[in-house]
Amino acid sequence: MSVLRGKKVLLGVTAGIAAYKAAFLVRGFVKAGAEVRVIMTQDAKEFVTPLTLSTLSKNEVLSTFTNKESENALWNNHVELGLWADFLVIAPATANTLSKMANGTSDNLLLATYLSAKCPVYFAPAMDLDMHKHPSTANSFEQLISYGNVMIPATSGELASGLEGEGRMAEPEDIITFIEADILKRLPLKGKKILITAGPTYEAIDPVRFIGNHSSGKMGYAIAAESANLGAEVVLVSGPTHLKLKHNLVNLIHVTSAAEMFEAVQQYYSSADVVIAAAAVADYRPADVATQKIKKKVDALAIQLEPTQDILAHLGKYKKNQYLVGFALETENELKNAKGKIDRKNLDLIVLNSLNDKGAGFKTDTNKVTFITKDGAVFPQELKEKELVAQDLLEFIQKALDV
Ligand code: CTP
Repeated sequence: MSVLRGKKVLLGVTAGIAAYKAAFLVRGFVKAGAEVRVIMTQDAKEFVTPLTLSTLSKNEVLSTFTNKESENALWNNHVELGLWADFLVIAPATANTLSKMANGTSDNLLLATYLSAKCPVYFAPAMDLDMHKHPSTANSFEQLISYGNVMIPATSGELASGLEGEGRMAEPEDIITFIEADILKRLPLKGKKILITAGPTYEAIDPVRFIGNHSSGKMGYAIAAESANLGAEVVLVSGPTHLKLKHNLVNLIHVTSAAEMFEAVQQYYSSADVVIAAAAVADYRPADVATQKIKKKVDALAIQLEPTQDILAHLGKYKKNQYLVGFALETENELKNAKGKIDRKNLDLIVLNSLNDKGAGFKTDTNKVTFITKDGAVFPQELKEKELVAQDLLEFIQKALDV
């Protein structure tokens, strides 16, 4: 999964021959899961049709301040467009547009949007080699970079004029890779390693039966996805679930039993900055696992159980600098029990779920949790989708880590 997934991309297309490549850019962004809106300058329409770009982006292409064709002439609000975008990318960016951007000229919708945008701005110059070399163009680049805009440098090669040299717009896939890397670099959890456990464990009774629980894994997977979206390198150790998670930053390790989960977690613990134990680990397992299917013989059958390793308690015992987060699922004396687990397992934070809260706990898409820190501060949260609970949790952890 790309970091561009769910991002709102505003693409500005100006009048250079490379404008035809804007079609590939729109397609690439959409393929990566982004939502794209396109603003074209009037002259850019000579190089690629708005119909092509609106069809690919599934959004109307804008180029004027008012929509004159419409009966109730609507205003294309550049302020609203600038606020909507997670980032603005101007590709191709001609020498003319770059000079206007550098000088604050605002004589078309794209330039007005550029001036109002608060989001990161990328620009990919495209022009003939002598224009590219000209000191006034170099001046525009310098000015724009000093405003915090990010240049995606032009490359060398054959130009539309037939000349060879620097000035070719970077290829669409390289522009997308560049922006992905830049977004990643700016993410708050970039460089942090987060180890997460999720789902149930199954403890074998015989080759066909097991002791398990109702955990769906949804909460742990949502936390893993959110951590990766914030730039962390994630190891997700998951018990058996039907869930899938594909993300460049997530290393998903499937396990079945508590013993396997313990083994996997130990491998990654020493290098982790944060550990979030969202798994519902079985506390007991059959002391002897039958090698053959147990046949029905008598009316009653007793299975001797022995305790599993308490993974989180082990991590707490050997904690160095890791920030340790546990989950507590309680049905009575919730706060007292949860606080007891913080002490017993040497945690920094516990996320308390009460099965008494409607919409909380196993199998649901929502959860109602309370964050409790090791100094006893209690932060009750609203009932929310698990994805939003994951966002709240990661926000809480970022504050605690001061990142
Ligand atoms: N946990 C763990 N290994 C276990 C049991 C639990 O890592 N063998 C972790 C869970 O992932 C969770 C936390 O410990 O983060 C609390 O789990 P919970 O089952 O609520 O608590 P227990 O310690 O098992 O206590 P009890 O069953 O008595 O509530």
